[in-house]
Order: sequence, then structure tokens, then C-alpha cells
Amino acid sequence: MDMKQAMVERHMVRKYTDKPIPAEIVRKINGRVSDINAKYHTDIKLVRDDGSAFNAAIKLVLAKGVRNYFILAGKADPDLRERLGAAGADLMLFCQTLGLNTWWVGGTYSHAKMAQKVPGDEVIGIIAVGYGATQGKPHKSKSAQEVATYEGPEPEWFKNGVEAALLAPTALGKQAFKIEGAGDEVSIMYEPGTFAGEDLGLVKYHFALGAGSHSFCWKATR
Ligand SMILES: Cc1cc2nc3c(=O)[nH]c(=O)nc-3n(C[C@H](O)[C@H](O)[C@H](O)COP(=O)(O)O)c2cc1C
Repeated sequence: MDMKQAMVERHMVRKYTDKPIPAEIVRKINGRVSDINAKYHTDIKLVRDDGSAFNAAIKLVLAKGVRNYFILAGKADPDLRERLGAAGADLMLFCQTLGLNTWWVGGTYSHAKMAQKVPGDEVIGIIAVGYGATQGKPHKSKSAQEVATYEGPEPEWFKNGVEAALLAPTALGKQAFKIEGAGDEVSIMYEPGTFAGEDLGLVKYHFALGAGSHSFCWKATR
């Protein structure tokens, strides 16, 4: 499975089996984390065999068997959230290509415990990773017409980009974005809100993967 196919197959999975992640796969993931941290200037960290990401109540009702996760962290900065959105999108899809499942959690994790693991950094969420009890299911989605407009006849790359953007995970599945294209320029606006930065990063990453980054350039981010 390549990264494009991974966009289609990735769905939120909240329950995990106890199958450990083999050492060879852990090595690949850690290699990707290093590359991604260098590219996006982030401090994402893979934590393994650790059950402290959620409190007891959340584990009882929502998060089953989460033992491995990424801490989404970096130095405080106005675009940290957007950079972590893009970096996290890459990691979720990369893990999917390795046969793993993931779940982005921005609200319901143990904030204080995660902050202790990356001193001096801001933590904006975690991504649970492991072998899912299920593969999850496709999220309810807006249509391309609801979120995107193109000036003149729509090129194939724009259509593919919008389709990919609609596959991105967004907080509460809101998909609160508008994509505009004209010539080879594209802009994406995201409705302001708590998770708007990371949602924007996730959606832009997906759009670029679907459209092909050589096909277009970004006009403005917000
Ligand atoms: C920024 C962000 C924050 C999220 N926070 C939570 C959360 O606190 N709790 C939760 O159960 N899911 C959370 N999610 C998961 C979303 O609800 C889920 O990704 C969305 O419904 C789309 O489904 P999909 O991942 O299957 O495409 C979050 C997702 C994103 C992108």
C-alpha cells in the first residue's frame, strides 16, 4: 500500500489488540519520525509500551488497549499547530502503509502526563498507534461541491486534491475548510477554532498528496 492508498484506508481506530509492534517496524517508524521532525521543526516522540496516555474513565469508555502513541510536540510558535498537523498526517499515513492503525486525539488525553515527557515543549495532542481491533470505517463527508471552487474548468489535479482533502481527519469530523483554485494557485481557508491549526495542516498535506505538489502552488494559508 502506498501513501495515496493509505489515505483511502485510514480511519480512526480507538480499540487496539495487544499484538506488539515488531522491532523492525518500530525502527522504520522512528526513522520517519526523525525525518519528519527535521522537515517540520517539531519534536514528535514515539512512546511505546506505556498506558498513561489516557485516564481510567476514558480507558473504560473510549480508548481500549492504547499502549503506543506519538506525542505531538514542539517549541511554542504561532504555526506549531499547522506544522504538527502536516507532520502528523504524514505519520498516520506512513503507519497505515505498515499495516498499523491510528487515532488523533486533541482533547481527551492526559495533558499533564504527556507534557512531563517532553519538558520545555508545547504538546497539542497525541496519535495512538497499534494493531486495531477493527480497521475503522470511512467518516461522514461533505461533498467536493460544498468545500471547493475552481475558477474555470477544473483540472484533474484539483479534483484529486479536493478528494484527498476530504479524506483527511479533522477534529469532530467538521471539515470546516474552503478550497479555492485559479490557474495553478490554490488557497485553503479553515474556520477559526481550537483545532483549526492542526486541521489546516492535515488538510493541506492531504490535498498536496492527492494533487501532486508539482501541479500547483499555495496562494495563502488562511
Ligand atoms: C485535531 C484533531 C483532534 C481530535 N481530537 C479527538 C478527541 O479529543 N477525541 C476523539 O475521540 N477523537 C478526536 N479526533 C478524531 C476525530 O474525531 C476523527 O479523526 C474524525 O471524526 C474523522 O474520522 P477519521 O479519522 O476516521 O477520518 C481528533 C481529530 C483531529 C484531527
